[in-house]
Amino acid sequence: MAANDLTIVILAAGKGTRLKSDVAKVLHRAGGRPLVEHVVRACLPLAKNILVVVGHQAEDVRNAVAPLGASTVLQRPQSGTGHAMFIARAAIDANARLAIVLPGDAPLTRTETLQALLDAHRSGRAAATILTAHLDNPAGYGRIVRKPDGSVAAIVEDKSASAAEREIREVNSSIYCFSLEKLWPCLAELRPDNAHRELYLTDTIAMLNKRGERVLAVEAADARETFGCNTRAELAEIDRAFRARKAAALMDAGVTIYLPETVLIDPDVEIAHDTIIEPGVQLLGATRIGSRCTIQAGSILANATLADNVLVRQHSVITSSVLGSGAIVGPFAHLREGSELRPGARVGNFVEVKKSVLGEGVKAMHLTYLGDATVGRDTNIGAGTITCNYDGVKKNPTRIGERVFVGSDSALVAPITVGDGAYIAAGSTVTEDIPADALAIARGRQINKPGWAAARRAKSSESKSAAAKTSEPHRNSAKKLVERARRKSSPRAQKSSRH
Ligand code: UD1
Ligand code: MG
Repeated sequence: MAANDLTIVILAAGKGTRLKSDVAKVLHRAGGRPLVEHVVRACLPLAKNILVVVGHQAEDVRNAVAPLGASTVLQRPQSGTGHAMFIARAAIDANARLAIVLPGDAPLTRTETLQALLDAHRSGRAAATILTAHLDNPAGYGRIVRKPDGSVAAIVEDKSASAAEREIREVNSSIYCFSLEKLWPCLAELRPDNAHRELYLTDTIAMLNKRGERVLAVEAADARETFGCNTRAELAEIDRAFRARKAAALMDAGVTIYLPETVLIDPDVEIAHDTIIEPGVQLLGATRIGSRCTIQAGSILANATLADNVLVRQHSVITSSVLGSGAIVGPFAHLREGSELRPGARVGNFVEVKKSVLGEGVKAMHLTYLGDATVGRDTNIGAGTITCNYDGVKKNPTRIGERVFVGSDSALVAPITVGDGAYIAAGSTVTEDIPADALAIARGRQINKPGWAAARRAKSSESKSAAAKTSEPHRNSAKKLVERARRKSSPRAQKSSRH
């Protein structure tokens, strides 16, 4: 439950030099969201007031966090984490007594972990409590210097650590809980006497000690939760951790995922139990999948809604479309935005559907384009059918009724309406509306010329034997060709060919 005396401060003004990017660090995406959005979401259940310190690409960072209800304060120039907190002070609610401070680049932190930090801080009556982790390779992180009683004496930054301090494997996550009335006087005393000429928030820990205040440390249950993202390699690692978390949660909820390390599922995706996800699948955005569906290998679904018992065969791409129960799609099908397959409809190999509604039991199994079309129930769309929906200026609708049979390789030039129960002969180019139950044939009439092919063959073999008599034998001409090729590929010839 959100506490009233608590405020959250997220430090997100830094550039992130080590990412070598034009995009501010906290806006890089992992696990389907910008880094800073993960941090804000983890804090939402804890406090009403969430303040984000912005600087680099301030406007873009503000746009990323404002929809979640966080407010922002501008830090310019960015003179260190201590300076960021100093700037935040002016924007912090006067009622706040405690602040959880987090970096905008540590997105794996969970609400439960922050709650545990807060509880430890309150029950330990500390001035500051630090979330720490033990790392095999602590290089680059600030080290936690503990006192004999287990409380914290200081945080020593990597660059200013002694050889002995560098051996310490317990590191500062940059996630803290501060009692604000204790912090403010220390902030005012910070000096930029370090390699970066910055004000370090970490220096306040030794200052609190000097004032006789208690500083505690809580170790994160899972060290990965404290991972900061400073390089592209770390970004990939963090993305992997998020994807694994999402896959694990879905499997817990009764979804089968084969080779879960190969699938990519965004955080908002919902999947009901007994659905099967095969290797290499991507489920993106607000995709929702019902029960007993199978999404076969290599398929990509973005903002798709699937009812129960839907089968998506290999390598299909489905965007912003709705599939009714029992629908079957693919392999190699492309459902573009605004498509709807009613229950039991089937779309097969190399079929593209855009902004079209296919009624119950409709079949379009091979090599077809349906754009801006409505197709009535139980209609069969033959192989190679194309709706010619674009006239070079605007898109035009195609209306096909129920139980229609569209013969293979038909072109339907829109706007056009085909009545219920009509037949279209294969190979037709339909330019006029077809009444219900009619047969439309719109193609050149076939003419058979008896014996024509045999006569042609006879004629061509006569002229061939005449030619053989007059020209030199094939064997000789082949010999000549081989000799010419050999001359060309000789080293001397190659040299001269360069000129
Ligand atoms: C910081 C800590 C270090 C800790 C590590 C954990 C300091 C001095 N060091 O180092 O002890 O082990 O995090 O990841 O705090 N920021 C601002 N304004 C600024 C500078 C930074 O908002 O002027 C923000 C950054 O955007 C970032 C966070 O503060 O989100 C931390 O800054 P960063 O430069 O990543 O610090 P580290 O070198 O990682
Ligand atoms: Mg960092």
